[in-house]
Amino acid sequence: MKKIAGNPYLKIENDHIFLDNVSGEEIFNHYDTPILVFLENRIRENVTSFKEVFQRIFENFECFYSFKANYLPEICKIIQSEDVGAEVISLLELKLALKLGFSPNRVIVGGPYLPKDLIEKCVQNSVKEIIVYNLNDIAKINQIAKNLNKTQNICIRVISKKFNTRLGIDFNERNLQELKKEYQTYKNIKITTILSHYSTQMNNIEHFKTNVQSLVQNIRNLKNIGIEIENINLGGGFPEAVIMKKERLIQVVSSIKKIIDDSNLKYKKIYFEPGRYFVGDSGFFIAEIIKTTENRWIFLNLGNNICPKFARNTLRFYNLSKINQAHKFKTSIAGIIPTDQDVLAKNYYFTENLDEGDYVLITNVGAYSLTFSNRFPYSLPIILLLKDRSIKPIFDPSSDMDFSLH
Ligand SMILES: Cc1ncc(COP(=O)(O)O)c(C=O)c1O
Repeated sequence: MKKIAGNPYLKIENDHIFLDNVSGEEIFNHYDTPILVFLENRIRENVTSFKEVFQRIFENFECFYSFKANYLPEICKIIQSEDVGAEVISLLELKLALKLGFSPNRVIVGGPYLPKDLIEKCVQNSVKEIIVYNLNDIAKINQIAKNLNKTQNICIRVISKKFNTRLGIDFNERNLQELKKEYQTYKNIKITTILSHYSTQMNNIEHFKTNVQSLVQNIRNLKNIGIEIENINLGGGFPEAVIMKKERLIQVVSSIKKIIDDSNLKYKKIYFEPGRYFVGDSGFFIAEIIKTTENRWIFLNLGNNICPKFARNTLRFYNLSKINQAHKFKTSIAGIIPTDQDVLAKNYYFTENLDEGDYVLITNVGAYSLTFSNRFPYSLPIILLLKDRSIKPIFDPSSDMDFSLH
């Protein structure tokens, strides 16, 4: 059996492609395209190997799945059953996490926008930490915790050193002194943790290094104003597991450990918040070619509406109808949004023959595709969850209204 896209769950045998143990025909002969497929076994394998590597290298490691990567309840449920916490940014995600059985002391909540109802729900449920991106939010949380007669742990997200980034708190002498003064008056919060998330699709150890250095500097600044940070959170940012194979992950995590040890950084717990690594390569689209042109453009029946550039996925394309033909002829691939901007790939190596009706497999779409999908007014795809030989529809556009959270 030949593997494709570096994914052990995608195999070709005698002209047939198998996703886990389900053949492509079983899928596209039964469901109209476009189809979105997720592989439960791949998600479980990614979670297990991520945890195994981090637990081996770090003593006090805690892991929180970043819901924004893929908030489909069925997907989050799989991850919950692998004994991972949750990192959520909104009230809708928080409600979902609690409903799925994530224990509040394994849920961290935060983002650039913390409305009152979200803070109240966090404090009422005693979530592990609220992450603030904006110093003004600390006073709000303290007041709400006071009203509810509770004490809430807080994590501060600091701005990373990545060029042009704006998310998080940028400490300077002035705001540090203000925080010092105000913190003495806050009786219902405790700042315990600091977070710096650098970027996405990080495969360069220098990026992790810059991130740790930024944490070290910020922890020092906070210590100088009397705030002792207990835990550090390095966020997510790992590529799809097919891109960062286990040996590479071990190398990267060992280097992060060494950088931390070399900086003499002391902490009680270290947190990571992976999203893409868990789910990115577990998701696939099956689409159809609806038009071809003389100059080797093909148009698929999906585009950036549900396979958006914003998701920054490592897209790979395969002609399922001609899977054994060489994929070495430059082809450009467009979508169905009526604008010339809807390009999925340019000069991509694809089959020489291109025919309307050919089925096309797009890999690595499990993370952020739905999150960033823009609902250009086409029908949503059917979503299938595959495990071993079973196929379970988890969203059907003909009966379910929408897959967003509500
Ligand atoms: C604070 C934070 N944590 C975790 C993540 C998840 O990142 P990834 O899916 O790249 O692992 C993100 C993504 O933007 C983030 O902003």
